[in-house]
Amino acid sequence: MSNRHLTKIPHHVAIIMDGNGRWARGQSLSRLEGHKKGSEVAREIVTAASRIGVEYLTLYAFSSENWRRDPHEVSGLMALLQHYLETEAEELHKEGVRLKVIGERSLLPNTILNLVEHVEELTKRNKTLTLQMAISYGSRAEILHATQEIAKKTRDHRLDPEDITEKIFNEHLYTAGIPDPDLLIRTSGEQRISNYLLWQVAYTELVFVDKFWPEFTPEDFMEALLTYQNRERRFGTAA
Ligand code: IPE
Ligand code: IPE
Ligand code: MG
Repeated sequence: MSNRHLTKIPHHVAIIMDGNGRWARGQSLSRLEGHKKGSEVAREIVTAASRIGVEYLTLYAFSSENWRRDPHEVSGLMALLQHYLETEAEELHKEGVRLKVIGERSLLPNTILNLVEHVEELTKRNKTLTLQMAISYGSRAEILHATQEIAKKTRDHRLDPEDITEKIFNEHLYTAGIPDPDLLIRTSGEQRISNYLLWQVAYTELVFVDKFWPEFTPEDFMEALLTYQNRERRFGTAA
């Protein structure tokens, strides 16, 4: 894979890794086997993104709403996440990846929470790629959380309501310090946002891919970047 055709590399790519269950069904496999294959694909895309020169990659791994799935699937997904963090931490660190988890941490099992904190600490000075994993993540919950934090500050007279700007609001989101995504990719053919980065995607280019996540390859990733490259972003200015 080469990036010689890419002239305009997005700084930040966000992905909704969707379709593991449908892919598995098509292969007569269990949903969890679909998730396992999906986690392998995620690993490949992290390396591809970092090689291409993407600086921030945000992967939607588990949503606030996904907690409502069958308990067997939920515990299987948590086990997979734990395995991923345990086996990949060192290698990610060597590749210069900084890991950050965004989402409602208090809902995560302790073993995973401890692992997340350990890997975040281990990789916090890495500069090649920032990998944001959205786990137990919901954008509305994130926005509410930011609003509560801001409301507390105004109540305690630490912040004037007039001073609540977009910049201040950004600083209270889980994604504080991370630029907005330039490109959002969703696999599986569904064309919706599913409570992902609602505030942050205001001017993001959207690319929907007609493949299930376990079938997604580094070449497909490159193709999405080429599609992005041919889009004209206007941010509200005249054409
Ligand atoms: C995405 O695949 C992974 C998670 C949401 C955890 P799905 O599990 O949503 O697969 P489909 O969409 O049901 O095929
Ligand atoms: C979004 O996919 C969440 C993740 C990919 C982790 P879902 O499969 O949960 O979303 P819907 O239900 O199709 O909107
Ligand atoms: Mg899905």
